[in-house]
Amino acid sequence: MSRIEIHGYAIVSDDERIADAAGRTPDVLRNEADWAYFQAELNRSEVTVLGRLGHEANPNPRNRTRMILSSSSRGIERRPDGWWWNPGMLPWAEAIRMVLPHGGRVAVPGGRRVFDLFLDIGYDAFHLTRAEGILVPGGIALFSACEAGRSAEAVLSEAGLAPDPRQVIDPAGPVSLVVWRK
Ligand SMILES: NC(=O)c1ccc[n+]([C@@H]2O[C@H](COP(=O)([O-])OP(=O)(O)OC[C@H]3O[C@@H](n4cnc5c(N)ncnc54)[C@H](OP(=O)(O)O)[C@@H]3O)[C@@H](O)[C@H]2O)c1
Repeated sequence: MSRIEIHGYAIVSDDERIADAAGRTPDVLRNEADWAYFQAELNRSEVTVLGRLGHEANPNPRNRTRMILSSSSRGIERRPDGWWWNPGMLPWAEAIRMVLPHGGRVAVPGGRRVFDLFLDIGYDAFHLTRAEGILVPGGIALFSACEAGRSAEAVLSEAGLAPDPRQVIDPAGPVSLVVWRK
């Protein structure tokens, strides 16, 4: 099979949350430097793989190719707004072969069930941005294992990834980025 490279992207609080209790991204997890980095990374990717709620909440003005996870798909379906995939009906290898028959780079921006699923499928890299000093009590965790008190770093390390050095992308906060690689 052609080479597929999978990259995860998240911005998290110190308590490993990606969204608030209502499932929305709070302002404290929005950062311009992180957004610019993420957009540049999406420009290097052939497809963005995300959950239905994230797809509906985030418009796609650049018309990038999306693959949307949803139980409403019967496997993999081409719809006007992207490829709709149900992992319970069709394995990843078969689904991505339809979308990227010649291989390429895949960006995975979540949410939590999607991040969990790709822990099993296997990340080649995970770009973990942290809004340092921020807490989002009762919010949605990056991985379900984080709900049980595990750190994002512990989960990524157990998944066979190792960290590059920490970079400060915004001194206000600060907001830092660590890229974890296989
Ligand atoms: N801070 C960050 O980096 C970050 C990252 C990601 C998301 N967010 C924020 O988090 C919120 C949304 O995240 P979320 O976790 O609540 O939702 P989500 O992952 O965007 O969407 C969840 C939906 O995706 C579908 N889905 C996910 N996994 C599936 C699976 N294995 N099989 C079938 N369908 C699956 C289901 O759709 P159906 O109901 O159609 O079956 C599910 O209801 C948004 O506010 C978003 O902006 C933040």
